[in-house]
Amino acid sequence: MLRLLEHPLADHILTHLRDKTTKPATFRTLAYQLTLMLAFDATRDLATEERPIETPLEATIGHVLGHQPIVVVAILRAGVSMVQPFLDVFPEVSVGYVGLERDHVTAVARSYYCKLPPLAGRRVFVVDPMLATGGSATQALDVVKRNGAVAPRLVCIIAAPEGVAEVTRHHPDASVHVGVLDRALNERKYILPGLGDFGDRLYGT
Ligand code: PRP
Ligand code: URA
Repeated sequence: MLRLLEHPLADHILTHLRDKTTKPATFRTLAYQLTLMLAFDATRDLATEERPIETPLEATIGHVLGHQPIVVVAILRAGVSMVQPFLDVFPEVSVGYVGLERDHVTAVARSYYCKLPPLAGRRVFVVDPMLATGGSATQALDVVKRNGAVAPRLVCIIAAPEGVAEVTRHHPDASVHVGVLDRALNERKYILPGLGDFGDRLYGT
């Protein structure tokens, strides 16, 4: 299932993220803001429980989040930029990391690191801003499923149609939440119009 974040504020933030004159400090802030919107959208079906409370005026029944903890698994390096928004709004989050790096010539991702908290029985969100060929996301979803995640969600800022197709083919159970679906990949497997190399723009490398 592909879900697009359709919101005028998301369009506004994306436009500034794409702009090549945006500096890393602003880029990081914009990535934070857009991920916050994606985090709200990707968690809109979280279970809640009734909670009787008293306001200063009367007794009422509220709703609080249920007890299923959230795990965010960031694909290094660019996915790190998407962790803090989840930590800032959800009361119970643990974080895992999967290190994957695309080869500059073949665009095939190589795994170099993996550190995961327990995943069984938890809601697992794999985060990576760019879904290009889908190779990195597919590998990360493989890893989290092997470690106990059921129906993990993939949260990305920009996706190419090729990447969505690849992830859906390998992981039909994984829903894919994206800020925007772009046109295509170029011959070097970069997303068009895209925003360039997210990790480089984030960290000024
Ligand atoms: C980027 C991006 C994704 C990957 C997407 O990372 O953050 O992880 O490319 O491409 P794919 O869908 O074709 O696999 P990169 O490999 O450049 O590493 P970095 O985050 O360390 O810069
Ligand atoms: N990774 C990026 O950072 N950008 C792209 O366009 C493709 C992969």
